[in-house]
Amino acid sequence: MSDFISGFWSHYVTVISLASIAACAFLLWITNRARAPAGGDNTTGHVWDEDLREMNNPLPRWWVGLFVLTIVFGLGYLVAYPGLGSMQGQLGWSTAGEYDKEIAKANAELAPVYAKYAAMPTPEMARDPQAMAIGERLFLNNCAQCHGSDARGSKGFPNLTDGDWLHGGDPAKIQESITLGRIGVMPPMAAAVGTPDDVKNVANYVLSLSGSPHDSVRAGLGKAKFTACAACHGMTGGGTPALGAPNLSDRIWLHGYGQDAIISIINTGKTNQMPAQQERLTEAQIHVLASYVWGLSNNPQTASR
Ligand code: HEC
Ligand code: HEC
Repeated sequence: MSDFISGFWSHYVTVISLASIAACAFLLWITNRARAPAGGDNTTGHVWDEDLREMNNPLPRWWVGLFVLTIVFGLGYLVAYPGLGSMQGQLGWSTAGEYDKEIAKANAELAPVYAKYAAMPTPEMARDPQAMAIGERLFLNNCAQCHGSDARGSKGFPNLTDGDWLHGGDPAKIQESITLGRIGVMPPMAAAVGTPDDVKNVANYVLSLSGSPHDSVRAGLGKAKFTACAACHGMTGGGTPALGAPNLSDRIWLHGYGQDAIISIINTGKTNQMPAQQERLTEAQIHVLASYVWGLSNNPQTASR
């Protein structure tokens, strides 16, 4: 695969590479031919440090030979390996291919370790310290950059430890979220709600659902307009996991708390994506990860004590 966004740059690099090699060959040829005029004693007439004279000898044969060999090697290399723009090279070698080979080898070596967990149900695995240690390491390497090393998330990236789920919190749903990824789409709703004042009223009604501080007069006026939201968030704002629509009646806010944050999301909408992991991780790894994530909020280790 090439990272060039247009074919032009591939040609650009190819032409510069080949032109440089041709220039080397030409330089070699021209210096081999042209002799500087020399006096009868075969010196160029340049003298340094009183008696150090520059001889006018041709380039040594062995040196020219090496130079030619370098050029031939360079051309051969460019035929065999990727190097000319986005050309693949005849041997089909690629860094991505090497990486895939290494990953396949590592996965084969780890298969026996994961085999033990493939058939183990999630609640049992969440009590297994070795499985949880593997899960934690996988999490730190693959998920922590977005969800945080403590899995508590941040604005826009859900907290995975709180038992509040956008898409469902049973082991199968968590595994599905990781395997296939998720996209949460809230369309801009201002037009469906009405005037900016109506939007403010609905925002206060949303705040009232979780008993958060709000203007109760505005909330009362906004209630009727909430029907536009109920299709996704539910009549009482409890959320709809099948749509990834969050519960608005708890005090957990993914995109910020308060009237202004809510007005902003009603006006502009929100699209939020969890990237699918099935290309990057094996099914067995995802199974262990899902159990680890499930265990974060269903902590059987503390529950059984
Ligand atoms: C590039 C950032 C990113 C990475 C990396 C990432 N996630 Fe996510 N994840 C998100 C976002 C954003 C969401 C919320 C999607 C939405 O709003 O619907 C999410 C949602 C989830 C959910 C669903 C949460 C819910 O409430 O239903 C789970 C489970 C999850 N991620 C687990 C993981 C695991 C395990 C990994 C590591 C393999 C991971 N994520 C890697 C960004 C990321
Ligand atoms: C088509 C479905 C849909 C409709 C209609 C909809 N929403 Fe949403 N809403 C969502 C989804 C999905 C998300 C989560 C986006 C994400 O994945 O981050 C969301 C997120 C939100 C959030 C952020 C919650 C948080 O935890 O930060 C608020 C607030 C919200 N919606 C309010 C409303 C209001 C008010 C209305 C009506 C005016 C409305 N929504 C209409 C689907 C919808």
